[in-house]
Amino acid sequence: MFVKILDKILLIFFSFLIIFFQVKNALSEEVYLHFPEELLMIEFDKHILPRFKFKTQISIKSKKTSENTDLSIDLKNEGISIFSDLNGIVYKIEKTTSDEIKLNKIEKFIDWLRSPSGISAIEGFQFNGASMFKALKFEKQNEKEFVFEGDIKNGLLVSQKHCKRCHVVDDNAFAGIDSSPSFHAMRSFEDWEERFRAFWTVSPHLNVISIQEVYDAGSKLSPVVIAPIELSLDDIDDILSYVSKIKPKDLGKPINFW
Ligand code: HEC
Repeated sequence: MFVKILDKILLIFFSFLIIFFQVKNALSEEVYLHFPEELLMIEFDKHILPRFKFKTQISIKSKKTSENTDLSIDLKNEGISIFSDLNGIVYKIEKTTSDEIKLNKIEKFIDWLRSPSGISAIEGFQFNGASMFKALKFEKQNEKEFVFEGDIKNGLLVSQKHCKRCHVVDDNAFAGIDSSPSFHAMRSFEDWEERFRAFWTVSPHLNVISIQEVYDAGSKLSPVVIAPIELSLDDIDDILSYVSKIKPKDLGKPINFW
């Protein structure tokens, strides 16, 4: 009998212990962001943080002192420029934690600050009816501006000579055949570059197009039925350069508008 009760007591005790540590853990994962005095005075933190939480369910708490915080926004920080006041003075965010879980949340916060929703939160903030801050423009790290060094003119010529039988390649919207997407439409795909680099490896080009250095059309496949197209890798570069200059089709426009 007594042993049974002891059993229960132990069970309850350990349950509490587990709950206690879970709560403690959850609390220690809370992210604290230090705001400078002047931003707290105008309650900028109360404008920004709930909007971020609304979007991501991630809660960040603002703190007046910089002790025991995980990141801080300030004028004198090293770190990532986020926005400026109307005098052009830049506020930067600096991470001060090395906790993986917190860093993960902080990354999301910074991404959000740079997203349209974050930018509109920053710029939409008003004090006494006046805007206070301007979000800074960012160079997106992985969206490097690639310079195509091919010959644009030759790219156009090659396209007109070889691709136009099937695709609309320039401003002659009546060229091409229906089953082939226009260059303008394909230019609007995010991965247009990959597609144009490798188009000759996918059907229906495989049977028709030979790349001098690499591949004979239809060599391993059915006999060529249409006049084969001979291209060099330089021609491909030229086509890429030409296509990079094409105005992408606005996919919101009617289908038959190239
Ligand atoms: C014989 C007709 C024909 C010729 C010639 C032709 N294409 Fe195509 N091309 C097509 C068709 C049809 C498609 C659509 C294939 C599909 O949707 O599966 C296509 C698709 C493409 C794509 C998209 C590939 C992808 O991954 O989605 C690119 C890029 C392309 N062509 C570039 C070219 C270029 C550059 C030339 C000239 C050097 C050319 N094509 C010549 C018929 C042709």
